[in-house]
Amino acid sequence: MQTIRLRVNGRERRVSVEPTAFLVDVLRNDLALTGTKYACGMGECGACTVLVDGEAIYSCLMLASEVGDTEITTIEGVSRDDELTPVPAAFAEAGGVQCGFCTPGMVLSAKALLAENPHPTEEEIRVALSGNLCRCTGYTRIVDAVMAAAREEAQ
Ligand code: FES
Ligand code: FES
Repeated sequence: MQTIRLRVNGRERRVSVEPTAFLVDVLRNDLALTGTKYACGMGECGACTVLVDGEAIYSCLMLASEVGDTEITTIEGVSRDDELTPVPAAFAEAGGVQCGFCTPGMVLSAKALLAENPHPTEEEIRVALSGNLCRCTGYTRIVDAVMAAAREEAQ
């Protein structure tokens, strides 16, 4: 085991982990941040997406020991004081959430896109979210949600 320091959602955290521990497991099991989901474990579904220094990454493929000097954002860090910020609010309003399993990863991928490209086209949104799978919505409402969030954040 080794003790590592992580900065997650603006808080310094210290955890003892195996050197081979993946970030998704440390977030969920050691830090109780279970909004980050685990499904394929192989970088194929996007359920485990978090932001590392603003970039959307698959936390099932990232060793926790590799992210020590970075700012990690999980879905728990996206809303403030129990109020939904524009991206998750737009998902809720547009019907982009059904079972919700993909939603944390989708929201974080959308946030990474909007930070880099505040006015994406529909095609750019579809490309940016292509690494996040959803079995419920058919994607159209998710794309609508990201376009609505872009309009909201532009105001
Ligand atoms: S659980 Fe990480 S990509 Fe599927
Ligand atoms: S809302 Fe169910 S997997 Fe996307």
